[in-house]
This record gives sequence, structure tokens and C-alpha cells, in this order.
Amino acid sequence: MVAAHRSCPGYVDEPFASLVAQYPGPEAYPLADFRVEWGPIFHRGRLDGSARVLVIGQDPATHEAISRRILVGEAGQRVQGLLARLGITSSYVMLNVYLYSVFGQAAGYRHVKDEGIVDYRHRWIDAVLLESEVTAVIALGTLAKRAFALWEDSSPERASRAADLHIAAVRHPTYAEGSAMASGQPLEDTTAAQLADWSAQLPALSAAVTPEVTPNPKPYGDTWAEQDLVAIPEQDLPPGTPEWWRAVDAWAVRQGADAQEKRATIKVTVPKGARAWPTL
Ligand code: URA
Repeated sequence: MVAAHRSCPGYVDEPFASLVAQYPGPEAYPLADFRVEWGPIFHRGRLDGSARVLVIGQDPATHEAISRRILVGEAGQRVQGLLARLGITSSYVMLNVYLYSVFGQAAGYRHVKDEGIVDYRHRWIDAVLLESEVTAVIALGTLAKRAFALWEDSSPERASRAADLHIAAVRHPTYAEGSAMASGQPLEDTTAAQLADWSAQLPALSAAVTPEVTPNPKPYGDTWAEQDLVAIPEQDLPPGTPEWWRAVDAWAVRQGADAQEKRATIKVTVPKGARAWPTL
């Protein structure tokens, strides 16, 4: 008997079927600032009402462009590890501030309040938060925090729903790398600062979430430990996706001699550990 595989059923039921049918394109997302050519990437996790935690990320990167679900690469595995500490293994849903990958960080800040982007994002947040079992929102980074605040402040109904939620605005999962590059600080220092921030948020977050399995909200160390990253569950990705798409190895990188080639090219490589074929 072949083991049964699980997969993400996609956008079958309303309001998600209409949401994916009506996604905005370059009229809302300027081509100079977003990699619209790689298509919109909508979410990851449960859309069946069973989610208890909403995670808001920023924008999709290379692994997400290929797998067609958000927060799948290293950032996603760090988030999956954070959820595991809360005892959450499947009852979550994740959205990004942007449907398309941002081309240059400054563009991310420029467009967070754009009407066409905001209106569509609010429809998604409504769909996963209003009348749901979600008790906590984890906003990853400044833009996610701002996006959630815009939603909360946009109507009395939304403000009232937000008032019932625990909001954990944590540093973005790749804050350490970005901050080290921008500031010249050692990566070890920015990593320690990021992990201290996540550790500080854990007790209140854990208290606000009903776990599925025994939680383990112990603080992080000063560096990422192997068990801090958790593989993406099979049920989060579309049917038939290879197992190595969910693993910790980086398997998709932008490549090119200049910015144009790099924008146009994602190189996908089967990691060494997943090469099960016989060699002659
Ligand atoms: N990938 C995503 O989908 N979102 C992020 O915020 C980071 C990586």
C-alpha cells in the first residue's frame, strides 16, 4: 500500500475562490517595484476555519515563487519552529503584506498604504479573521505590523475583532541577516537580538493560543539551533510537490550576471540529500 499523501486543497470554497479569481495585477502593483512576472502567491495553511493563529509575513521570495505558497524557505521554517514552540502544528494561516515579491526593500515601505493593495489585503484578512477561531496574530516585521494596524483602524467591526486578539509584533524571521547587511553589525549580534525579541514574546503569545500538542515556550539561545527550524508540513503545499521543497536546504536562488537577468532567473537545484537516483 502506498502511504497516503496530504496536500493543500487550494482555493475551492468561498470567499477564497472569489479572492483568487479577482487578484490585482500591475494596475495595483507597479512593475518597477514588484516582481509581478512571477505571479501572485496568496497564503499558506488552513482556510477551513480551523486556524487559531494568523501569521502575517512580508512578501514572497524564491522558494515561494516556485512552491506557490508563502513562507516556505528559511524564513518560513523559522516561523514553523516558533509555532512548534507554541504547540501549534497545523492550525494556522499565513498571509503576506504583498502578493508579489518586492523589488528593493524601499519599495516595500512605499506601497504599504496603496489603495488597490490595501483593499485586496483587507478582504483576505477579513476572510481569515472575522468569525474565526483565531486568538493570536503574529506580525513578522514592521510592514506586517503596519498592515495589521491599517486593517484594525479601517472599520469599527475590524477594530472590535482586533481587540479580542493577542497581537505579537515580532522581528521579521530574516531581520538578523537584513540588519547585519544594512548596519555592518556582526550577524552574531543581530541574530542574538532577534532571538531575544522572539524569546521575550513567547510567554504572552503562548498564553493566548490554545495548543494542539504540548507547547515548549522555552527561550531561544543566542544563535539558531537545528531544532529551531521546522520543515514545512506536507499538507501546506499543492498536491504532488517533491518532499525536498519542504526541507531546510536552500534549493531556489536568484541567479544572473546583472539585476535584469537575476530578476528573470530562479535556479532550482535538487539538494544532494534528495538525489535518490542511481548513478552510473
Ligand atoms: N517569504 C514569505 O513568503 N514572506 C516573508 O515575509 C519572507 C519570506
